[in-house]
Amino acid sequence: WPLDVVVVGSANVDLVVRVDRRPGRGETVLGSDLSTHPGGKGANQAVAAARLGARVALLGRVGADGHGRLLRESLERDKVDLGHLREAGAPTGVALITVGPEGDNSIIVSPGANARLEEQDVADAAGLLRSAPVVSLQLETPLPTVLAAARAAHRAVFNLSPPAPVPDELLALCDPLVVNEHEARMVLGAGGPPAEQARALLRLGPRSVVITLGAGGAVAADASGVTTIPSPRVEAVDTTGAGDAFTGALAWRLARGDGLADAVAFAVRVGAATVRGAGAQSSFPTLSEVEEP
Ligand code: RIB
Ligand code: NA
Repeated sequence: WPLDVVVVGSANVDLVVRVDRRPGRGETVLGSDLSTHPGGKGANQAVAAARLGARVALLGRVGADGHGRLLRESLERDKVDLGHLREAGAPTGVALITVGPEGDNSIIVSPGANARLEEQDVADAAGLLRSAPVVSLQLETPLPTVLAAARAAHRAVFNLSPPAPVPDELLALCDPLVVNEHEARMVLGAGGPPAEQARALLRLGPRSVVITLGAGGAVAADASGVTTIPSPRVEAVDTTGAGDAFTGALAWRLARGDGLADAVAFAVRVGAATVRGAGAQSSFPTLSEVEEP
């Protein structure tokens, strides 16, 4: 059956400890019990879309280890097509995450197998990428791989996260480029009001731009103008993966033919729903949980 979204990207096991405060250099603090969650920005996008009802495939790499098996099993439960999730001769990616009292997170990623996702993997999956209206991307796999996937896509949705310099060619292939305020400032080299940041990003070449604003919702911009979409108010328990869920939901709605502002409005509700629960994928909603009454 036809796919809605192909995600090219990372899969990590998230090792999460809640802390009252983070340790300084040379310091030790005690935290909560460890929780182990499936995560990774690519797998998160894939699961977010699949749980909403999208047909999704994940092109990525995990290690031949217990973490890799854990990720496969959880992705299968969410019905993500894993025909192109290959094994690499490196450990499965791991994210070491601390969550603070306000639901804020700090993350160290050990890419492991994700760093072995190569341009050749994209070339081998050319047919898969062409079969979906949207390919969804992030930056926890090597840049040449991401660029190759964007080139091969009918339409590339790209979340520039974690932030890093990217070539103009990649920006020009985005429809939309999805960034948070911090990432927008990094790309532009200056801060400013979100609507102006969105216009400035558009001038760099993408067909459309979305800036996520956390509790402030999101700004969507394309040739037809700039729209600000507010977020519902929610109590933040854990914001980990909210941006990934936003992007996965957005990719699915665009694949279904929604206009940008409508797709962003839907994705804002999905992102808000995720911050109410602990973990990334473990907090992602089903369609009935975000549909308007
Ligand atoms: O965006 C959240 C994700 O970033 C986590 O699931 C973690 O794996 C890191 O990749
Ligand atoms: Na969450």
